Amino acid sequence: MTTSRRTLLAATTGIATAAATTTAATAAAPTTAARSSRTGSHQPPTREHFGTLDNGDRVDRWTLANGGTRLRILSYGGIVQSLELPDRRGRTANVSLGFDSVDGYVADSPYFGALIGRYGNRIAGAKFTLDGKTYQLPANDGPNSLHGGTKGFDKRVWDVEPYRSGGDVGLTLRYVSKDGEMGYPGTLRTRVRYLLTPRGELRIDYTATTDKATVVNLTNHTYFNLAGEGSGSIESHRLRIAASRYTPVDDTLIPTGELARVAGTPFDFRRAKPIGKDLRDGHPQILRGQGFDHNFVLDKGLTERPRPVISVTEPESGRTMRVATTEPGVQFYSGNFLDGTLKGSSGRVYRAGDGFCLETQHFPDSPNQPGFPSTVLRPGHTYRSSTVYSFGTDGGR
Ligand code: GLA
Repeated sequence: MTTSRRTLLAATTGIATAAATTTAATAAAPTTAARSSRTGSHQPPTREHFGTLDNGDRVDRWTLANGGTRLRILSYGGIVQSLELPDRRGRTANVSLGFDSVDGYVADSPYFGALIGRYGNRIAGAKFTLDGKTYQLPANDGPNSLHGGTKGFDKRVWDVEPYRSGGDVGLTLRYVSKDGEMGYPGTLRTRVRYLLTPRGELRIDYTATTDKATVVNLTNHTYFNLAGEGSGSIESHRLRIAASRYTPVDDTLIPTGELARVAGTPFDFRRAKPIGKDLRDGHPQILRGQGFDHNFVLDKGLTERPRPVISVTEPESGRTMRVATTEPGVQFYSGNFLDGTLKGSSGRVYRAGDGFCLETQHFPDSPNQPGFPSTVLRPGHTYRSSTVYSFGTDGGR
């Protein structure tokens, strides 16, 4: 790996010229995003060289800005490398955990910001049976297959093109996964579109088609810290999830199949509460995941259009995030396995609970769980999934 900060020189795209030479992707001085209002003012996406993989593949970083939000996406893994939002005083910070060079992502990343496929979360015993045939997957999490296997979509270089529609500015990412890749049947043609709307919302639309029956469950693995990445614990963020049930797990974090009620447990986020409030109450499920690492069964179920299901508020900065999705579930992960060994974009180390993920998706291990909504995709059908993240600030403390 040869990336150095000096290789991060801006390159022209033919569409637009990248902003001035950048030193690193650290949260920076006041940015265009900070100055623009929440009512539009988008710019065309810009592209710069971010690094080179060992096999010589080039990795680009794209920058999008619209409605007060600035987003940076890598062609490697389709990674959200930074997401800059203003706080209630208009001060901008990067609220997504990650690295300032490709090396960090390649060497040892717990899926920071990445697109996950073909299957988000775990498949028990690293195998499943479809139409009478059993498929063996790479086991990369004890006996189970996690996040698409040893080389999932998070570790692939995607084709990226700018996209624009009305006031929205975006990118279209494409990846073709060959029949049998990571053990999954069928050639899977995947398209992910990242869009910023004039109100600064981030929308992610996923589609996929196959030429053989297969299973699919795509998501994005951004770790959020609305106070700014590297600023410490997320325990004071207030979280609300519109879910009356969740899926308890066994000791390898595979759902038992039960849809348990959240009422009277630490899993009850139906009214907003600080993430840290019940983290230490000794509930056996919390002990199993070393914190929250569970799929919540969204009350609205699978929907054709994104419906609001989650809200998060960070009290110090006042930053807020709302999430709407078409998906029936969300994996709420409280960053339990961050262990102080990774240094993030800001140069600060990430410890347990310094970021949280809200992975909107179908339930873990659905291919082995007949009671869960199906994740089977057949030729002639299109997999579709959309999630919208809306950002804002609350008035004050
Ligand atoms: C998911 C899983 C967690 C963990 C993270 C990545 O959220 O459910 O158990 O593997 O991804 O570290």
